[in-house]
Amino acid sequence: MLRGERVTLRAMRRSDLPRLWAMNNDLAVELAGGGDPPEPQSYERLVAAYDREVARGGRDGTWFAIEADGKFIGQCGLMHPNPTAHTVELGITIGDKAYWGRGYGREVIRLLLDYAFRLRNYRRVWLWVHADNERGRRAYRACGFVEEGRLRQHVYSHGRYVDAVYMGLLREEWDQRQTEPAD
Ligand SMILES: CC(C)(COP(=O)(O)OP(=O)(O)OC[C@H]1O[C@@H](n2cnc3c(N)ncnc32)[C@H](O)[C@@H]1OP(=O)(O)O)[C@@H](O)C(=O)NCCC(=O)NCCS
Repeated sequence: MLRGERVTLRAMRRSDLPRLWAMNNDLAVELAGGGDPPEPQSYERLVAAYDREVARGGRDGTWFAIEADGKFIGQCGLMHPNPTAHTVELGITIGDKAYWGRGYGREVIRLLLDYAFRLRNYRRVWLWVHADNERGRRAYRACGFVEEGRLRQHVYSHGRYVDAVYMGLLREEWDQRQTEPAD
């Protein structure tokens, strides 16, 4: 649905589930993303959840599968929309580690930001990231996000407490970047 140079953001497919299952059970991916504490997930449970959701009908909302080289490599999307303040949270997990650190993340983030600002008319996109997720923070910074604050020692992650860093990007800042050369 949303196409970049190397990535496409599209609806999830049932055929993505085996790869998603592997990603959900990959400890390195779980710890890097750092949302919930890592827990195993059976394939049957994943399929059942997918089928339940699909049975509801309608559309997939603002959540996308990330495809590169014809493969499902992760998921991303917009969450927690605030219809009054026109803000939304951005989330992304590239679950195939072979695609980390090669610029795919920032391409996905830029597609999502264009979707959020131009197609969905949000005025502010925000996110939070572990302070020790250097790869994520650099990718977000490269797309224009600025650090806005942090909750000290807010997260417990593999044996220690780390700060939660909040980052944000306003539409006018994004618009301004579109007229500047890309970095
Ligand atoms: C976070 C994530 C989306 C970033 O996407 P990506 O494709 O890996 O990122 P990019 O290649 O666009 O940018 C990575 C940046 O980190 C740097 N980097 C790469 N490997 C790194 C490493 N091991 N340690 C620190 N920095 C690293 C790159 O040099 C680049 O920065 P630069 O352009 O300033 O040089 C992706 O790595 C991912 O999904 N990780 C697992 C889950 C996760 O962390 N989700 C985000 C939760 S908030």
